[in-house]
Amino acid sequence: MSFEFTEEQELLQSAVREFAKNEVEPLAVKLDRDGIFPAETMRKLAELDLTGIPYPIEYGGAGADYVSYALVIEELAKACASTAVVLAVHTLAAAPIMQFGTSEQKKKFLPMLTEYKVLGAFALTEAGAGTDAGALTTTATLDGDYYVINGAKTFITNGDEAGLVILMAKTGPGEGTKGISAFIVEKSVSDFAVGQHEDKMGMRGSHTTEIIFKNCRVPKENLLGTIGGGFKIAMATLDGGRIAIGAQALGIAQTCLDEAVRYAKERKQFGRPIAANQAIQWMIADMAKDVMAARLLVYNAASLRDKGKSYSMEAAIAKLFASETAMHHAVKAVQIQGGYGYTKGSKVERLMRDAKVTEIYEGTSEVQRMVIAGIALR
Ligand code: CAA
Repeated sequence: MSFEFTEEQELLQSAVREFAKNEVEPLAVKLDRDGIFPAETMRKLAELDLTGIPYPIEYGGAGADYVSYALVIEELAKACASTAVVLAVHTLAAAPIMQFGTSEQKKKFLPMLTEYKVLGAFALTEAGAGTDAGALTTTATLDGDYYVINGAKTFITNGDEAGLVILMAKTGPGEGTKGISAFIVEKSVSDFAVGQHEDKMGMRGSHTTEIIFKNCRVPKENLLGTIGGGFKIAMATLDGGRIAIGAQALGIAQTCLDEAVRYAKERKQFGRPIAANQAIQWMIADMAKDVMAARLLVYNAASLRDKGKSYSMEAAIAKLFASETAMHHAVKAVQIQGGYGYTKGSKVERLMRDAKVTEIYEGTSEVQRMVIAGIALR
């Protein structure tokens, strides 16, 4: 087994690292403070051919692999986790079209996303259907050449800016998870309303909103996959999404480590840098250990996906470990920086708020354990 990046991946990594340092990091404080969507950065990412990284060139993508995609998310997240999740969810929206779409759907919708004509979103969650995603109640009823959608989706990343949404709704004929179907909803054709904007603790540059469907008419050819096949489409899509969130958490964890090291070497107490204290060294050692393990897990899951092997369990393990690492690292980095770290405007204060949601979205840590145990006990 080898986890060496190829020369191409290394080139991409250094180019994105440079871009993130110069163009993304300087905006991170303002995005967080004022809750600003990174519109300009997304346009620049599109110019750099990074808004459809793992999709074929014939559909407007960069034709790169999933390892390259994870690399980009990690590098962006090191600089600004909000920007990373905006790109991750945008990229996620194209995945079910690529995997389950007809050739007409791929030709029509993939370039819209990969070339960033529209922003993508993924609408599964509802007020009463979070972890229990199969309990969703939004309905899609066939009426002539259209499905009529009624219901509301909550906590939708990119919800207010999205021009294309992958929507999961109840169609029957089966019960529960077997009665859910997936749809491609183009806002310009099938308008939906944007409801409540969530005022979140962290990840504030990424907008999270409710989206509301009231007799929203979606052309019947926008059904994705089969009637009743939507839950499996959602789960398969989230398998890939969890690698990206793992990469995002890894980026956060790495920056926490970098910030802890920087401060420990600079800060003097009792006449010497606090890095000279074994208590601090042990914290830093544990952080370095876990960030390395998270990196191996994330890129292992991505490379399994690239090889066409099954990776549900590995993606869940990577997301679980990387997100818990990000949260632990953020707490340690704040502890090392003490009062300065706890102050608004300090980088580690933002990282601590941003890290928390990686243990929640695209499946909580408890869901990842359910997925892992389910596969381990098969
Ligand atoms: N791929 C394909 N099919 C899958 C699958 C996968 N990874 N996982 C499960 N399935 C199939 C099962 O095989 C089963 O099919 P059969 O009935 O034919 O055997 C069917 O789906 C139902 O599976 P379960 O019985 O396991 O379903 P469940 O109702 O018990 O739920 C769960 C399992 C793991 C808890 C699931 O509901 C889940 O993942 N919940 C969390 C949802 C989630 O991650 N939400 C995040 C929202 S999106 C987001 O956060 C994006 C963002 O904005 C940042």
